[in-house]
Amino acid sequence: MKVTVIGAGNMGSAFVRQLVLAGHQVSVTARDTAKATQVATAHPGATAVAAAGAARGADVVVLATAYADAVAALQTAEVQPAQTVIDITNPLTADYMGLTIGHSTSAAEEIAKAVPNAAVVKGFNTVFAQVLAEGAELGGGQTVNVFLASDHAEAKQAATALAQSMSFTVVDAGGLRNARYLEPVAGLNIYLGYGAGLGTAMAPAWVRKTAAA
Ligand SMILES: NC(=O)c1ccc[n+]([C@@H]2O[C@H](COP(=O)([O-])OP(=O)(O)OC[C@H]3O[C@@H](n4cnc5c(N)ncnc54)[C@H](OP(=O)(O)O)[C@@H]3O)[C@@H](O)[C@H]2O)c1
Repeated sequence: MKVTVIGAGNMGSAFVRQLVLAGHQVSVTARDTAKATQVATAHPGATAVAAAGAARGADVVVLATAYADAVAALQTAEVQPAQTVIDITNPLTADYMGLTIGHSTSAAEEIAKAVPNAAVVKGFNTVFAQVLAEGAELGGGQTVNVFLASDHAEAKQAATALAQSMSFTVVDAGGLRNARYLEPVAGLNIYLGYGAGLGTAMAPAWVRKTAAA
């Protein structure tokens, strides 16, 4: 797939790494072109592109900016009608220990409203950059879960294929409205990782009881 990663920070660079490893055609962009170039150079096969028009020609756009920068970044990238946009953002407070919106809306829904061209899929927001950079394998045959929520079936399918190509286990999390739940899950993950000091080599997952004997 042709994938444009918007953002060349912790998550953007980790996405570029895993997407290149999975054999995708990857473009990366940032406000600062030098940062995008640095990430592309570190991952041969990836290409740094200008922020303006960066979404053109992409099968999937990965939105890896701060939530506050998301809408401007997508507008600059010129998202095409019905283009798949994976929104990985969390609407974090300045100290990273809270969410600025929730309950009755979510970052993903606000982005979808502001950028109507985008077929928004919420996902990967519960995966720490360290986990993404190191890859989906957890050991013991287990892989990191990625929860995907969207109102666009084709976009969710494309995001699912992309996640699976990087060996993640995909959990269909329903419609985009469920981003209202996924963003707080990321908040808990951040609390556990940083606030409670458990570290960032972990990811949330649901466990299932085996059938009663
Ligand atoms: N870090 C994590 O473990 C983690 C995990 C899950 C989800 N997330 C979410 O993922 C998002 C990115 O997090 P991060 O840690 O990677 O942040 P980061 O390191 O600060 O990177 C943000 C990137 O966004 C770029 N950017 C901002 N505005 C842009 C624009 N208009 N056009 C193009 N690029 C633009 C920045 O470019 P410049 O540097 O050039 O300004 C920077 O490269 C956040 O919403 C965060 O909540 C993070």
